[in-house]
Amino acid sequence: MTAIITVAAAKGGVGKTTLAYELAAALAAPLVDLDWDAGGATRMWGLDPTASSRAPLLDALEAGPAGRPPRPRRRPNQPPLIPSHPDLSASRIDADLVADCLQAWAESQQAPCMVIDTHPGANALTDGALAAADVVVVPTALGMRELAALEQNLTELAAHRVVLVPTMVPPVPPKRLVDRLAALAAGRCTVAPPVSEHRWLRRRLRRSALVLQPNPGERVRLAASEYRAVADAVQEALHA
Ligand SMILES: Nc1ncnc2c1ncn2[C@@H]1O[C@H](COP(=O)(O)OP(=O)(O)OP(=O)(O)O)[C@@H](O)[C@H]1O
Ligand SMILES: [Mg+2]
Repeated sequence: MTAIITVAAAKGGVGKTTLAYELAAALAAPLVDLDWDAGGATRMWGLDPTASSRAPLLDALEAGPAGRPPRPRRRPNQPPLIPSHPDLSASRIDADLVADCLQAWAESQQAPCMVIDTHPGANALTDGALAAADVVVVPTALGMRELAALEQNLTELAAHRVVLVPTMVPPVPPKRLVDRLAALAAGRCTVAPPVSEHRWLRRRLRRSALVLQPNPGERVRLAASEYRAVADAVQEALHA
């Protein structure tokens, strides 16, 4: 059984794609990019989703769960990728079909899990990826507004196994926000070890996942160790 790990958040720009990409790399799992917008994993992987007239992901969704699963693209030091396409935004595929397809594709994978990157907020593709998920990984920044949005988000995810990942955490995180996060999570979900704020990550052109980078320098090594610790927490949640 290949487990489905869906990375989702109500808010944009909180580090979903970076987390999905590193998790997939750390777990040697294929990465499915369900974000039709510029903020998805396809660009991070180095492909321009607007440059291709072909949309194998959309074709596979339209073919349904009995159709041929899309084949991941492969490159050294990156997770295998099933790329997105802008046409996904206009598709009328409903959440149930998305969930059925993802489950069928997961079964056809050789890997122990499959990671899904999503578009922020509610939409049929994200809803399908949530319905199919064995675990939902929710990155969250440590801010008052972010935690208020998270509280609402956790209510919607009540039926799911959730791993919260504090991201872009400053060197000295405000204690009241750390406490607030712990209170929100208590009895509801797991909190993974935090991912620090790595400002250099914003300017970086990615040619390899941090966790797969050969000969990493000090700062990449540190960031990679944080993402590996999150991957361990996700795996633990899957087996709990
Ligand atoms: N731990 C981090 N520290 C600093 N910057 C980060 C960190 N993680 C991600 N970023 C940067 O923040 C920006 C948003 O990250 P990312 O694209 O992963 O978020 P997202 O939630 O997928 O966004 P979107 O909602 O647009 O899809 C990117 O420039 C990324 O490089
Ligand atoms: Mg994204």
